Amino acid sequence: MAIDQADVKKFWDERAKTYQDMAFESVAGLEQDPDNLKLKIGLECNKVFDYLPDVTGKRILDLGAGVGQWAFRFAERGAHLVKAVEYSADLCEVGRKEARDRGADQVNFVVSPAEDYVENAKYDIVYISGLFVNMNDDQVEKIATNLPMFCDANTCVILRDGMAREKRYELNKAFSQHLQTEYSAIYRTRETFIEMFARNGFTVSRDENVFDEGCPLNKYPETRLHIYEFRYDGT
Ligand SMILES: C[S@@+](CC[C@H](N)C(=O)[O-])C[C@H]1O[C@@H](n2cnc3c(N)ncnc32)[C@H](O)[C@@H]1O
Repeated sequence: MAIDQADVKKFWDERAKTYQDMAFESVAGLEQDPDNLKLKIGLECNKVFDYLPDVTGKRILDLGAGVGQWAFRFAERGAHLVKAVEYSADLCEVGRKEARDRGADQVNFVVSPAEDYVENAKYDIVYISGLFVNMNDDQVEKIATNLPMFCDANTCVILRDGMAREKRYELNKAFSQHLQTEYSAIYRTRETFIEMFARNGFTVSRDENVFDEGCPLNKYPETRLHIYEFRYDGT
């Protein structure tokens, strides 16, 4: 199955309208319950910053950055540059306003489909968070194929994304009670990602579920939020 990319883009453009009405982290992060959001931010930050090297002075490419909730965390912790690539111009607009309000001029938003983004520059960290579940297979493959362009032997690639626990799991225009709208997503298995990254010169160094079993943030039996660290060995 492929998901309708026009619908997906419309969904994300609409999310920009929630800015000011809900927590900044909910706009692209989608958790709208205040208690769950607080729990999520705490647990995710612990896990993600455990996986990341010290970001001080680093150049970071954030693909599918949304309004930049992670980009701003990287900037606050001393990143030299965060290139935030996001295809929704409306979400980028929100991110740029936040960057101005926060005085975070090291966060640069670029409006572009992540799969079409090319640049002749190497990054210390490539961060891909919550992006692949929105994409069809050809888009995910294109990103994996493009990734070496941004990497040298020292680059750390962090993938944080929904994962299918047993077999590929797809939602096609499913009504979400939580979001009160239709939502489409494709959850791929851990093995799918590890194999695809391996084909493009990346080895997984560690990976795990972001939330422990029993955590209320594991909302669906078929899926888990998973984090992977990849190293580029193709140079
Ligand atoms: C779940 S949100 C994650 C946002 C952010 N990375 C985070 O973790 O908070 C997914 C983001 O990917 C963006 N996105 C989806 N498809 C994209 C594409 N083809 N190119 C660039 N961005 C895309 C959406 O607009 C949305 O901002």
